[in-house]
Amino acid sequence: MEKKILVSGAKPTGRLHIGNYFGALKQFSDLQKEYKVQIFLADYHGLTSVHNREEMQKLSFDLVCAYLAIGLDPKNVTLYRQSALPEHTELAWIFNCLVSVPWLERAHAFKDAQAKKSEISVGTFDYPVLMAADILMYDADVVPVGKDQIQHVEMAREIADKFNNTFGETFKRPKELVVKDVETVPGIDGQKMSKSYGKVIPLFGTDEEIKKAVMSIVTDSKAPEEKKVAEENNIYKIYKLVATTEEREVMRAGFENGGLGYGEAKKMLLEKIYAYFAPMRKVYDKLQANPKKVYNILAKGEKKVRKIAEKKMMTVRKLTGLRN
Ligand code: ADP
Ligand code: TRP
Repeated sequence: MEKKILVSGAKPTGRLHIGNYFGALKQFSDLQKEYKVQIFLADYHGLTSVHNREEMQKLSFDLVCAYLAIGLDPKNVTLYRQSALPEHTELAWIFNCLVSVPWLERAHAFKDAQAKKSEISVGTFDYPVLMAADILMYDADVVPVGKDQIQHVEMAREIADKFNNTFGETFKRPKELVVKDVETVPGIDGQKMSKSYGKVIPLFGTDEEIKKAVMSIVTDSKAPEEKKVAEENNIYKIYKLVATTEEREVMRAGFENGGLGYGEAKKMLLEKIYAYFAPMRKVYDKLQANPKKVYNILAKGEKKVRKIAEKKMMTVRKLTGLRN
């Protein structure tokens, strides 16, 4: 049986942290055998917030290195930059002509952006339409996303319906794939780990940066011998993700029976984080030193998807009457 098509992407808007890894990147890697996987760098989307040439280039390159370092194998996964395929923006324009302003105003991400800033860019407003183009272009069956992006996939389905009803059956309706058991990874202050709040454990930081972050995880002031509820503890919540079941139990027992202090628990966590991410960090560093290799992989991926995008756009241009 033909494998189902999985499409997903991420914006190059900040340094990756372990919340991104467990909440998104790891899933891409886990799914690469089961699906025909296309993962892209959403640099056009990134441009809604990054307005600096060097920053855009660095964040973009780093993100592709990260994709490869976390185990996306170019043999299984097609990697590409969104901006290498201007067909995405062309399709987004066509979709723009089918959707209304009030419909777009319903997007949570737009409402959040508007609440934070009185003047938001047209690109930010139009974000879900470009995202729909990214997805529908390739007849994606599934789109793995974090909870915050579910609505955007729903909007992509609505756009597919709208186009299909207007011009004839053209686009497949995609489904979001939200892996249920991934909880929100807490940051070192206990809030959601997020690049926008700063308090992150970087995925590809130096040993020192990672140590500094882990050692500053916020805890209460209970003494080592006091009993503590493991599940309420940020150290334990992160430890659960990187430790084996037995190791987890050791920490849990130490907290629940008393005897394990926060300082010692942080050291246990730090060791596990180093060990867990060491192989990935090694690959990452190698790729950082070999940009040619990285850009070659992208060029190959882009060549592959360009064929699909060009074909789809020809169909769309004909159906809409833009071409005979
Ligand atoms: P950030 O919150 O750092 O700005 P993004 O919003 O760019 O990260 O999210 C990129 C991906 O990483 C999304 O799929 C999101 O759901 C996931 N993600 C981000 N932070 C976390 C977290 N703390 N726990 C779990 N998943 C997360
Ligand atoms: N909006 C997504 C995010 O912020 C990134 C993205 C852009 C995306 N286009 C996409 C994700 C298409 C999945 C499919 O994380």
